[in-house]
Amino acid sequence: MMTADQRAAASRLREVFLDVGFTADGVLAMLGSSAYAALGRDEMVPARQVLADRTGVDVDLVRLFVLGDAVERSRLNPLLPVADMEFLELVGGTPSIAALVDVRPYGESDTEWYVVSDHGPGTAGRSVVEVAADHVLGVGGASLTLARITPRDGVDSALDLGTGCGVQALHLGRHAKAVVATDRNGRALRLAGVTAALSGQRWDLREGSLFEPVAGAQFDLVVSNPPFVISPGHRYTYRDAGLPADDLGRVLVQQAPTYLRDGGTAVILANWLHRADEDWRERVAAWLESTGCDSWVAQREVQDPAEYVGLWLRDAGHAGVDHDRRYDEWLRALDDMGAEGIGFGWIVLHRGGSYGELGPRLEDVSAADRQPRGDEVTALMAARARWHEFGVVALLDSCPRRPEGLRLVTEERADPKGYLLGVPGSLGVIGGWRQDELVDVVTSALIRAFDGHTSVSAAVDVVAAELELDVDDVLAGAILRVRELVEDGALILEVDPKLPDPR
Ligand SMILES: C[S@@+](CC[C@H](N)C(=O)[O-])C[C@H]1O[C@@H](n2cnc3c(N)ncnc32)[C@H](O)[C@@H]1O
Repeated sequence: MMTADQRAAASRLREVFLDVGFTADGVLAMLGSSAYAALGRDEMVPARQVLADRTGVDVDLVRLFVLGDAVERSRLNPLLPVADMEFLELVGGTPSIAALVDVRPYGESDTEWYVVSDHGPGTAGRSVVEVAADHVLGVGGASLTLARITPRDGVDSALDLGTGCGVQALHLGRHAKAVVATDRNGRALRLAGVTAALSGQRWDLREGSLFEPVAGAQFDLVVSNPPFVISPGHRYTYRDAGLPADDLGRVLVQQAPTYLRDGGTAVILANWLHRADEDWRERVAAWLESTGCDSWVAQREVQDPAEYVGLWLRDAGHAGVDHDRRYDEWLRALDDMGAEGIGFGWIVLHRGGSYGELGPRLEDVSAADRQPRGDEVTALMAARARWHEFGVVALLDSCPRRPEGLRLVTEERADPKGYLLGVPGSLGVIGGWRQDELVDVVTSALIRAFDGHTSVSAAVDVVAAELELDVDDVLAGAILRVRELVEDGALILEVDPKLPDPR
């Protein structure tokens, strides 16, 4: 998409940016922590005060791109590469020059990347204005969630569906040999091209809807932060897919497996409806029925319809007269869909393991201490993939052990006759992402029995005797519970890959 001349201009600009310290660390050092933190709240005044008497290429870059201020050309530092910036359509105007797009240093501790997007509705010192229909979103909370939870193992090929400003593709560029980034919005692809070039990366950019631009291709990793918002119309490309209700999530998870190589993984953000007559888990589980993939669905947040509509209207900068009319229309549309709430979360698909025979794992993680990292997602999916080979008999013969960081807090309580009774406990893994959970008496007794030498079936016998329960009752719950605890890293089950299938 970018011409050789444009790439050369971007690469010269990158050199200048790095030389003068127009980087995340450099801007922090220039502004100081207080003014820098204020930028995160879209408050530019503290930074303007810090820079009031300062000059330099770095100061000009921050004024133009971070503060969104117009600067008279005659006052710009002569070393600022204005011609390259104009050639890439990053700035324009005369006699004052202003940024036409938002260029933001972004990255991990050992990367220097630049994300190019449209200005947000509240930036650039302007009053809040509605964004355009083809608005290209910058890095937001959902972008960061997806970037965090995506597994980062080295892969040959990766797809970023709905790349927008290119933030996911930047991360993919670190661990995928080839990155394909698609978008329905041509402007988004143009800006993503500049993001890549300014960040020293190169991707295969393709325009089109959903999987159309990659027909016939397969990837080791597919990520997507799609326009998942459940809305009545198709006002903004970055937000509204134009499909009914939450159908986008269904369409994506049902189509994704075709584009996954064997062993490949897809990580997709989605919204789903909560309706009075339906458990959200059943709704999303139905999407996954014939994917042929092992899957994990985690719900991170649920909003009530009014909260949801208010949030997304604000997101697009809609504060004007039309606000209440649109609010009303949207709320009615959600009501017609039977929405009592809207869930947000992620769906991970893995083409391998039991190829979907195991059934999906769906859970609410809204109380988690933090969001999982990609390596934790990989571990969970790898543990799930294993149940296919590691059948029930093998599981009963296996001897799980507690990991070092396991924290199981239980009390022993005596009944009136003086017999010791087990009581429910609290279980957590130190440093883990899940919140401590309450576990029942049986689970806490089982966990205490798992010392790496006691088999699951022996532990079931011990616990049934200890709690005076029927062995079969304990057994039925124990298999599922042990699987879940292993997936969560709360139990370790070592399997020697050299051994034949233990069934
Ligand atoms: C929420 S933004 C995500 C941008 C970026 N990937 C991120 O993580 O921040 C959704 C992106 O999907 C694009 N999009 C909208 N409809 C699409 C479709 N039918 N097919 C592909 N991309 C689409 C939008 O143009 C937008 O860039």
